[in-house]
Amino acid sequence: MNDHNPSLRPRPVSDSKSEMTEIVLPNDANPLNALVGGRLMHWIDLAAAMAAHRHSRHYVVTASVDHLDFLVPVRVGDIVILRSSVNRVFHTSMEVGVKVWVENYHTETSHHVSSAYLTFVAVDGTGSRRLPVAPVIPETDDEKRRYEGALRRRELRRSETARRKKV
Ligand SMILES: CC(C)(COP(=O)(O)OP(=O)(O)OC[C@H]1O[C@@H](n2cnc3c(N)ncnc32)[C@H](O)[C@@H]1OP(=O)(O)O)[C@@H](O)C(=O)NCCC(=O)NCCS
Repeated sequence: MNDHNPSLRPRPVSDSKSEMTEIVLPNDANPLNALVGGRLMHWIDLAAAMAAHRHSRHYVVTASVDHLDFLVPVRVGDIVILRSSVNRVFHTSMEVGVKVWVENYHTETSHHVSSAYLTFVAVDGTGSRRLPVAPVIPETDDEKRRYEGALRRRELRRSETARRKKV
């Protein structure tokens, strides 16, 4: 169907899966030696962009980031692991999920720090023209659940945007 345009050939979610690992240094922390939220938000954006690039094979821009919770503090010296993948493609946009974990190698513990949904839009090299993105194929049960959830979240985002425009 899209043989003439390989970038629009459907791809499995696994093609977009990305993992990013960071160690928390003093420059990433507040006076309490805990990772500052803004640094984590930056890493989340980068980890998500990797998945969006891998899937779309295009330049992408962040259109939105949904609600973010920081569930546990992350300390200097901890290792932060961010895992991302494309949940669903709409037309020129795609939802990417990122799950963040912290590992403490002294205590050999690992905790869930945050989860985030981001929407990216594919653009051309000038950044001015939006480009269609290949569909994503969910294969595992988790991927199928996220794929279904992504449509509901898109509707919520749209109704929230419409509500804000009225205010
Ligand atoms: C994101 C951006 C490209 C959308 O442009 P736009 O003219 O509003 O685009 P449209 O209304 O035609 O929508 C294009 C797609 O983006 C999606 N979109 C637009 N705004 C969105 C938002 N706030 N949240 C989620 N998706 C959004 C639309 O649903 C549509 O998706 P689809 O093609 O898959 O159906 C544009 O607002 C932009 O360039 N923003 C700046 C991006 C940037 O600089 N990011 C870095 C942050 S500092």
